[in-house]
Amino acid sequence: MSKENDYRKYLTQYNLNPHKIRTQPPPPDDILRLLGPYERQAVWNIQYLSRPDIIFLNDVANAIIRKHNIGRDHGIEHAHNVAYFAGIIIRQMRITHQIDWSDEQSKLAVITAFLHDCVDEKFGAEVNISTLKQAIQNKFGFGDREVKLFEHTVTNMSYSKRRKNRSSGRPEFGTTDNTEVQYCQIVSDADLLDAYNPERANVYQQGVFGKIDEPPEVINYLVYSWNRTILEKRVMMYLEHFICTDAARQIALPLHDALADYVQHFQDYDLMDY
Ligand SMILES: [Fe+2]
Repeated sequence: MSKENDYRKYLTQYNLNPHKIRTQPPPPDDILRLLGPYERQAVWNIQYLSRPDIIFLNDVANAIIRKHNIGRDHGIEHAHNVAYFAGIIIRQMRITHQIDWSDEQSKLAVITAFLHDCVDEKFGAEVNISTLKQAIQNKFGFGDREVKLFEHTVTNMSYSKRRKNRSSGRPEFGTTDNTEVQYCQIVSDADLLDAYNPERANVYQQGVFGKIDEPPEVINYLVYSWNRTILEKRVMMYLEHFICTDAARQIALPLHDALADYVQHFQDYDLMDY
């Protein structure tokens, strides 16, 4: 869907008239500081991957991201962050014996986390999946079972797929196989952890609303109000309803509290007022 269509959809959905939206002053500096920089995690600290592994995965992901002109909100920083979080979660779960994976199994999950968004409708999923399966098989020597795990995970771990499965009464991750569920849980948790980031959400909303033909104060209002609404109504629900592993929950707790402060600062930016 085009950005223009997204915009029209929001206007209709919330009965918004851009010319009647009250104009808000730009957010003060202290609130802007709360956004923080959207920094990638220290990429060389991703667990279970060597430097050559990371360089290879970086080249693969970057090629796909550039080809499909994907914004920073789902760009290489997100790939790094999700792989980083997946590595931390797995290491913690191995220490506490919640999983008994080998280094190779752990490595496969981290690679899957790195590439999880490269197999998505926005990236031309059908084309990518066979290319990516081939690439990881050739590069890392994974067998058929591993490649199948990769494919199942990237096509079933997303928040939207989980919600769809829940509402239709299917298994949440499309499977009852224990290992497949564990892979999905860990990669999904890592993905959700990167959503506790107002600046990333802001980058996304700027992409949606930034180029529409409306006065800056209207765009500003739409960006911040939609951003606040998504963070409050969706991301703030992750901890209670979507995060699966104890390890991810520990990481999410302080992020959740920081996000609650952020949402509070933006309480005047409320789409539901209109
Ligand atoms: Fe993602």
